[in-house]
Amino acid sequence: MWSPTSWQLKTLEQQADYRDESALEQVITELSQLPPLVSPQEVVRLRELNARAAHGEVFLLQGGDCAETFADCKPEAIHRKVELMLQMSLLLTYGLGKPIVRVGRMAGQYAKPRSAHTETVDGVSLPCYRGDLINDATFCQQKRQPDPARLLKGYSLASLTLNYIRTIDHDAFQEFCSPDYWDPVHLFGQHASPFIQEQLLEVRRAFSLIQHLTPKNWLRQLDFYTCHEALHLHYEQALTRKVENKWFNLSTHMPWVGMRTAKPGSGHIEYLRGIENPVAIKVGPRMSCDWLISLCKELNPNNEAGRITLITRLGHEQVGHLLPRFIQAVKKESLKVTWCCDPMHGNTEVTDQGVKTRHFDNIVSELRQSLAIHQSQGTNLGGIHLELTGEAVTECVGGHCAIAEHDLQRAYHSLVDPRLNHNQALELTLHLMESYKKQEVNNQNASNRINWQNHLG
Ligand code: PEP
Ligand code: CO
Repeated sequence: MWSPTSWQLKTLEQQADYRDESALEQVITELSQLPPLVSPQEVVRLRELNARAAHGEVFLLQGGDCAETFADCKPEAIHRKVELMLQMSLLLTYGLGKPIVRVGRMAGQYAKPRSAHTETVDGVSLPCYRGDLINDATFCQQKRQPDPARLLKGYSLASLTLNYIRTIDHDAFQEFCSPDYWDPVHLFGQHASPFIQEQLLEVRRAFSLIQHLTPKNWLRQLDFYTCHEALHLHYEQALTRKVENKWFNLSTHMPWVGMRTAKPGSGHIEYLRGIENPVAIKVGPRMSCDWLISLCKELNPNNEAGRITLITRLGHEQVGHLLPRFIQAVKKESLKVTWCCDPMHGNTEVTDQGVKTRHFDNIVSELRQSLAIHQSQGTNLGGIHLELTGEAVTECVGGHCAIAEHDLQRAYHSLVDPRLNHNQALELTLHLMESYKKQEVNNQNASNRINWQNHLG
């Protein structure tokens, strides 16, 4: 029998070691009496949009920090991230020819799975940093101790973040619909590559056409949804609420289960099984097809469209042979899923200096390959999932801004995984648009061929 606490009876991975259980209990009680952060109507709407993404009618753009930090809950940083996501979605609306659903890794992406329990520096071992919801990143015994009061702080900052996103004046974004905004020199500097110039020229043509055809407010209301990894189950439990006899996680619209906690029958799957939200599953190279199928069945026993999004993160070297297998396994079972590509997490590497990074070209490569594979398998790529920031960080290598390994130390701010900066994220968007265009041309050629054949026949 499922309940918001039934996960506690199952095996659990990635749990913080709280010293004071009663303090934790007290915080959970307090949290569970506070107002929810999102509404059940929004959750249901996103679930419906997910179902439409599976059919290629809309496209999901998920993005944000690997790990949000409490210190970064600042209006400027939030504004720039929302602005970047909006710019990317405008480009994609044009390039993909369909509505884009924006889902920020925001307002709650505070808990991180880690590969080791402890971190050792100069012979001293301390509990690892597990995200701001759990402990402090500073390498000091006291700060690394999990502190339940941080759950309340995380909740408050998530709520402030959401409130701020909802108050952003969307009219200010009208400038992005002006052809002038997409001037390559303005965005990428004097030496924008021919690829960037060519892509942006088309975008400018489109926006100038729109300007002439429609009233100014074609942007309409800015819908913005949130997602985060449902890792800290005490937090998720406390924000799980019963509405009209159904249970909703009202801390976020779309929680996901990470690679490290996605074992069938585990506490994390048990928790996600009982809520109404759309749920995403990260699919990595270590996952077998049987494993994936049993997760889908456990989380979506009635095989309802929109409930499951599979976020594949396989790496540019392995996506070519792994993704077709997963797609075929899902097809064989006739499972309804929405496919989404995370080209970040399978492409993480460590430089000789010990810095975690990702190569822009590898990210683009996994994205392009995923798109082509879905096309050849007759499935839709329904979305992308990125780690990005609106700041000019130097965390990923490459791209038009040509960040080299020796630049990484200049503006590396992520506490966990490397993010695309503003320019890299826009450039990646241009690549996605180009791949779509090529695909469309191929489709067009293919359908022309068929028509021609029919005609002959
Ligand atoms: C993440 O999305 O930051 C993450 C840890 O992902 P994964 O579980 O896919 O490794
Ligand atoms: Co990450």
